[in-house]
Amino acid sequence: MSAPNSTIAMDRYGVMGFPVAHSRSPVIHAVFARQTGQAMTYELFETRPEDLESAIRNFQRSGGAGLNITVPHKSEVVRLVDEMSDNATTAGAVNTLKIGADHIYGDNTDGIGLVRDLTQNKRWAIEGQRVLILGAGGATRGITRPLQEQRPASLTIANRGARKAVALAEHFGRFGEVRSCRFAELAGTEPFDLIINATSAGLGGSVPEFPESIISESSHCYDLSYGSASTPFLTWAKKRGITNLASGWGMLVEQAAASFRLWRGVMPDTKAVLERYSI
Ligand code: ATR
Repeated sequence: MSAPNSTIAMDRYGVMGFPVAHSRSPVIHAVFARQTGQAMTYELFETRPEDLESAIRNFQRSGGAGLNITVPHKSEVVRLVDEMSDNATTAGAVNTLKIGADHIYGDNTDGIGLVRDLTQNKRWAIEGQRVLILGAGGATRGITRPLQEQRPASLTIANRGARKAVALAEHFGRFGEVRSCRFAELAGTEPFDLIINATSAGLGGSVPEFPESIISESSHCYDLSYGSASTPFLTWAKKRGITNLASGWGMLVEQAAASFRLWRGVMPDTKAVLERYSI
């Protein structure tokens, strides 16, 4: 009688982005996999924009089961999927692929991740609040609809130029009123209850010139980006006396959990990661 084969086949997952070396997703998914007893691996794939399609096809051909897609590929990957969730369709952006031998399903878990982090981990209200999103790029596209579903009192998208903000306000206007303006036009408004920085300005270490009148002491400030140190936007807010501050680390963990559930059919406990690896 031959010995039983003790090798467990590992399903393969990973994240494609450029650059991607700094990504914490492998650590997060390793904790989720251990916690839920899933036999899987999760790798980093540094993928240039011109190589995205071939990288995804090669991964699919080699039996890969799923991918996270991150900056700068979230919009481009839309044309490579066979089927998309409502969230991804509305956002026009995909951050999660569930891959079969001849079928790729695209979802977007960014918005749900943000909403879960805000409401369940931070216990910050969205419903009934005056919400301001700074920036009108891909990140804003991903979070707007899930924020609208939480029924804020108002939702404003501000950008340094008006064009993209107006286009997004029109696009999402069919789900509920969205106001749009340039940063400079925020000067005369009342302070907002919840301000979400979705610009990529912090990557260059700077904060755009937001009028100070957008915040008051009771404002809650959230930055979609994260790192080991405070972000320029959160430092800007802190200097102005704001104490309700949070980076996008919790959102990253929550969007990862939603991707994990799509892939494995089991929802991991995000607290284990949030407590152990607070950054
Ligand atoms: P992402 O996918 O991260 O959202 P994006 O689609 O390139 O990336 O969008 C980046 C957003 O950050 C845009 O709203 C951009 O403003 P513009 O539309 O005016 O380009 C904003 N942004 C980037 N750098 C900025 C800066 N230095 N000051 C203000 N806004 C900035």
